[in-house]
Amino acid sequence: MSAPQVTGFDLANPPDGFVRDPFPVYDALLEQAPVLRQPDGSVLLCRHADLDRIYRDTTLYSSDKKAAFGPKFGVGSPLFEHHTTSLVFSDPPLHTRVRKIMTSALTPRAIARMEPGLITTVDHLLDAMGARPGAVDLIEDFASSIPIQIIGNLLDVPMDERGPLRDWSLAILGALEPVLSDDQLARGHRAVDEFRDYLTDLIARRRADPGDIETDVLTRLIRGEGADAQLSEIELIQNCIFILNAGHETTTNLIGNGLALLHDHPEQKARLLADPALINPAVEEMLRFRSPNQFGNRETTAPVTIGGLDIAPGTNLHLCIGAANRDPQVFDNPSEFDITRKPNRHLAFAGGPHVCVGLTLARMEGRIAISRLLARFPDYRVTGPRVPGGRIRFRGYAGLPATLG
Ligand code: HEM
Repeated sequence: MSAPQVTGFDLANPPDGFVRDPFPVYDALLEQAPVLRQPDGSVLLCRHADLDRIYRDTTLYSSDKKAAFGPKFGVGSPLFEHHTTSLVFSDPPLHTRVRKIMTSALTPRAIARMEPGLITTVDHLLDAMGARPGAVDLIEDFASSIPIQIIGNLLDVPMDERGPLRDWSLAILGALEPVLSDDQLARGHRAVDEFRDYLTDLIARRRADPGDIETDVLTRLIRGEGADAQLSEIELIQNCIFILNAGHETTTNLIGNGLALLHDHPEQKARLLADPALINPAVEEMLRFRSPNQFGNRETTAPVTIGGLDIAPGTNLHLCIGAANRDPQVFDNPSEFDITRKPNRHLAFAGGPHVCVGLTLARMEGRIAISRLLARFPDYRVTGPRVPGGRIRFRGYAGLPATLG
C-alpha cells in the first residue's frame, strides 16, 4: 500500500481512519513532514531527536498552558483552574515544589511496598473472571479496575467512595483532546467540580485524622513533606485530582493494549509463555509500540528553528510520542512488535524534568497484571468486537471482549 500524502495533515481535523489507526500517518509524517506547521499556527513534531531534546529543555520550551487553555476552556472555568494548576502543565517554581513532594512520596521503596496488595487485587479480578461462564471484557473486568484500586490506595480513598473516580478521570482527561464537543466540555467542567467537592471533604477528614506519614501520600501532600513550602488548598486539591487521573487511564491502556498486542502477535505471546522473564522488555515494547499517551505539548519561550522551520515564541508544539517511538533513526524495524527489543529508548513516559512520576508504579502494574493473566489463562483470546477508545491523545480500548480458554 502506498504511503498517504500528509504534507497537509491537520491534527485538529484529521483524515478518516486516523483515530482508529494513526500509525500509517505517523510513518508518512516521519518521512515527508517531521516538522509540520498546522493551519492554526501550531507545529506538529514527530522525530525522536526533536522530542527528546525538547523534553529536556525547560528554558526554551514551557509546559505552562495558561495561554492555550484560556480560549479552550474559558479563563477561571473549572477545567482551566484544574489543568493550569496541575504539575504537568506548570513551570518552576510551582513545578519544582509540587514535584518534590510527589517524588518524595513515590519512592521505589514505597512502590515496592505496594506490590503484595497489587498481586492480591489482580488475583481477585482473575478469580472473578475465571468464575464467570462465557465471555469477559478485559477492560471493564480487569484493566480498568487495577489502577483505580492502586491509585485509590495511594491516597487512601475509602473503598466505598471509589465508584465515581473512573468517570471523573475520563471526563477530565478527555477534555485535553485537540477538538472538543460542547458535551465533552460540559462533562469535563462538571467532573472537576464534583471531584473538587469530594476531595475538599476527604482532605478535611484526613487533616482531622492524619494517615501514616511514611505511606500515606495524601497526608504527605497536605503537610508538604519533602519540600520547603506547603501547597495552597487549590494546589493541593488540583494535584490530587491530577495524580488520580494521571495514573488511571494511562495504566488501563497499557494493560489493555498489551493484552491485545500479545493476542495479535501469537508468536510473541508464545515466546513470553516459554520465558516469563521476558515480561520486563515485553512491557517496554508495549509502551513503545502502542503508547498510552500519544501526544504531549510544549510552548516555545523564544524564537527557535527546528528542521529548518522558524518558530516564533509562544507557539504551541504538538509532540507526537506515538510517531517518535517508531522513528527509524532510533528503532530497527520500528513497525515490528518485538518483545525482546534492545535497546528500547521509547518516549512513552516523556523525559527530562517532567518525566512521568509514576513510571515505576505503571511498569509494576503492567508487569504484574499481564504476567499473572497470562500464567492463569494462557489461551485467552480477544473475540471482539473491540471498542476503540476513540481518542487521539490517549490510546486504548474502551472494551475488549475475550474468552479465557
Ligand atoms: C503506562 C502508564 C503511564 C504513562 C504512559 C504515563 C505517561 C506520562 C507522560 C508522557 C508524562 C509527561 C507529560 C509531559 O510532561 O508532557 C507523564 C507525567 C506524569 N505522570 Fe505519568 N504515565 C503513566 C502512569 C502514571 C502513574 C501510575 C502515575 C501516578 C501514580 C503518573 C503520574 C504522573 C505525574 C504526576 C506526571 C507529571 C510529572 C511532571 O510534570 O513533572 N503517571 N506521564
